[in-house]
Amino acid sequence: MASLGVAGKTRAAIVQGLRTPFVKAGGTFASLTALDLGRAVVQELVERSGIDPKTLDQLVFGQVIPTLLAPGIAREVVLASGLPRTLETHTVARACATSLQALTDVASAIALGVSEAAIAGGTECMSDAPVFTSRPLARALVKASRGKTLPDKLRAFEGLHPSDLVPVPPAIAEYSTGLTMGQSAEKMAQENHISRAEQDAIALASHRNAAQAWKNGHFDAQVFHVLVPPRYEKVADKDDLVRAGTSAEALAALKPVFDKRYGTVTAGNASPLTDGAAALLVMSEARAKSLGLEVLGYVRAFAYAATDPADQLLQGPAYAAPLVLDRAGMKLSDIDLFEMHEAFAAQLASNLQAFASEAFAKKLGRKGPLGEVDRSRLNVDGGSIALGHPFAATGARVVMQALHALKRRNLNTALCTVCAQGGNGAALIVERA
Ligand SMILES: CC(C)(COP(=O)(O)OP(=O)(O)OC[C@H]1O[C@@H](n2cnc3c(N)ncnc32)[C@H](O)[C@@H]1OP(=O)(O)O)[C@@H](O)C(=O)NCCC(=O)NCCS
Repeated sequence: MASLGVAGKTRAAIVQGLRTPFVKAGGTFASLTALDLGRAVVQELVERSGIDPKTLDQLVFGQVIPTLLAPGIAREVVLASGLPRTLETHTVARACATSLQALTDVASAIALGVSEAAIAGGTECMSDAPVFTSRPLARALVKASRGKTLPDKLRAFEGLHPSDLVPVPPAIAEYSTGLTMGQSAEKMAQENHISRAEQDAIALASHRNAAQAWKNGHFDAQVFHVLVPPRYEKVADKDDLVRAGTSAEALAALKPVFDKRYGTVTAGNASPLTDGAAALLVMSEARAKSLGLEVLGYVRAFAYAATDPADQLLQGPAYAAPLVLDRAGMKLSDIDLFEMHEAFAAQLASNLQAFASEAFAKKLGRKGPLGEVDRSRLNVDGGSIALGHPFAATGARVVMQALHALKRRNLNTALCTVCAQGGNGAALIVERA
């Protein structure tokens, strides 16, 4: 089922966006938390925008793999960043579309006239993902905590098997089907006949475009330098997963990860586990104008849709894109640039295939397919395969990157899409005029 867009109402103006560098999990940000990254990006965004923090009336933020000691990440970000403690917040979750959800919550509040100026974003620190105990060990710990004497406490652990002591990491898997995201991408590659060569070509384009964008300074206004505590000697000043030197041959040499015998999904054509945060400053058009702020662009329409996760898990954008185009009163050919999250090259290729497919259009009960996406207008500054994918930050990164690319090329509209866990898909159209 789909939810409503906001076309035709008070337009939400995206005034500015910012993100940390996206870095490989377990690397430069290994000692930090999602809260550290979220706080840093929000502080820097407010500082750079020059707005009085009292102007803000809402902050909506998300984290996909929550920090269990601080699960209300939005509130914690406000309290840690020195923003007014009275600033209203809520935490959102829509898996990889989490910061798009934050943006559309804010855009909806602006459209309804209940917000004038807000921050929307997301943060993820896979280096600090919670590690669980097994259920038997958890039960024993609870029982031991209730024991009145030491022998009582020790008895609680009787009967535990050594394997019960093994820590359990969070699964990047679908709860209902048990398939990992990578296995689901494999399934899509097989069912949609997406070749290894096509997946590697998408990965190569992602790295080439991202490397070129860094070289040309396209990210200078989008990414700030993070001084890494506690000694503040290390500086993260760039995305560290972009491989300027990768090649078709190097990608072709990588072994499949999720189906070792027959698979085509590799470390090279999958998005990597990443740490990072991103945030957008969003206002009503009137408020932005009254403050004399330059606007990057506006939310024209958005749509969410879902498919059966047991079918093609990451095909959600192909369901959401027709809805958002209808809501915006546009055709695919009206779109100037496409900014589509690359969870896996197989997923992106499958969604592009569905956009152009008569059979898929029929499945949706539509007259015809959306059409072909011109690859030269797709992810022009690279996508999640090269830049990385800190789950909750990706939506805001995608929107910010689209708006900067539109501005640089003096174009008007971009279609942004993100696929997400549960078979969810998000699509959002931004426009500059
Ligand atoms: C695919 C995955 C398992 C790979 O993890 P990893 O093994 O830690 O990946 P690495 O970065 O170490 O890469 C593995 C190897 O491939 C090489 N490699 C990766 N990308 C490459 C590229 N573009 N060109 C050349 N070599 C590349 C690395 O150098 C490394 O080589 P080495 O073993 O000789 O050092 C991990 O990134 C993953 O789980 N991704 C999916 C995350 C996910 O499910 N997200 C949800 C999306 S909805």
